[in-house]
Amino acid sequence: MRLSPHDPVLLAETIQAFASLSLHIVVDGTLGAGGHAQALLEQHPEIQYYIGIDQDPHALALAEERLKPWSSKLFLKHSNFVEFDAFLRELSLPGANAILVDLGVSSMQLDQPLRGFSFMQEGPLDMRMNPLSGETAADIVNTWSEKELGRIFREYGEEKQWRAAARTIVQARRAQPFITTRDLKTILTPVLARFAKKGIHPVTLVFQALRICVNRELDALENFLPKAIDFLSPGGRLAVISFHSLEDRIVKKQMRLAASDKWETSGLSGLFRDKEPTVKLITKKPIEPGEEERRRNPRSSSAKLRIIEKLIKQGI
Ligand SMILES: C[S@@+](CC[C@H](N)C(=O)[O-])C[C@H]1O[C@@H](n2cnc3c(N)ncnc32)[C@H](O)[C@@H]1O
Repeated sequence: MRLSPHDPVLLAETIQAFASLSLHIVVDGTLGAGGHAQALLEQHPEIQYYIGIDQDPHALALAEERLKPWSSKLFLKHSNFVEFDAFLRELSLPGANAILVDLGVSSMQLDQPLRGFSFMQEGPLDMRMNPLSGETAADIVNTWSEKELGRIFREYGEEKQWRAAARTIVQARRAQPFITTRDLKTILTPVLARFAKKGIHPVTLVFQALRICVNRELDALENFLPKAIDFLSPGGRLAVISFHSLEDRIVKKQMRLAASDKWETSGLSGLFRDKEPTVKLITKKPIEPGEEERRRNPRSSSAKLRIIEKLIKQGI
């Protein structure tokens, strides 16, 4: 099956984020099909190390092919981006001038029924970005307790009917286990349809919650951001593209905290405790796709790009 290539989101804006810098070492934590990578490598011939990480081996193979003209500077790693610092150490590199993560799934993953990410097509209920390890979505819906299922639908899907969704799954699996995306969609649609958010399919938030849970997406992001800030060289920039409010909340909070001279950015308790800011905010508000991009690539609609820059006085 030939899949349409992933259309890199906020491409011009991401390139612009790094345009003023001279880049030597770049970490791309979500290489995907290599769209952002290609543009950065074209714009910055001075790059010496382009470190491309992806937890999906199919994405790495695709990007490797696309980025052949730059193969001498390309260092690929099949890994979670949270491990990027170990890879830098392996290469004896002290840090990076640019770090980019473009979160979530790629079009190749979404459009491939066998990966089980989409309820639009029938496929095994899998959803692992790294198909070589971890529990699948089927493992979770077939074995986790009603309470735990409810928790993930509430926390990761912000699904108002989390109780009904969890109860329905636990009842249905007594008769037979869930095997395909369609099994789950068929059982949940009538239950969730009545109070579903307008404009989205009733099972959208449950599928989102399962994907986030299977890939531990929020944990990876939480643990990655402080390390990324730490490993930025002075004057270097971190750009993060997120696709839903749960991710953006984490990015916004951690970036603001690093840019602040307070230990807490809200509430009274932080007011009197001073610390040194390590970064400055380049984007006070996130950059979002323009109308033309949204029309051309509807998957970009929810994207938000936030950028910070490491302060020069740090780590010299
Ligand atoms: C939106 S796509 C990136 C597209 C890429 N920027 C491009 O231009 O083609 C996200 C990619 O990141 C990978 N990914 C998501 N979370 C990851 C993580 N925690 N560690 C490593 N790779 C991750 C996915 O497997 C997917 O290939």
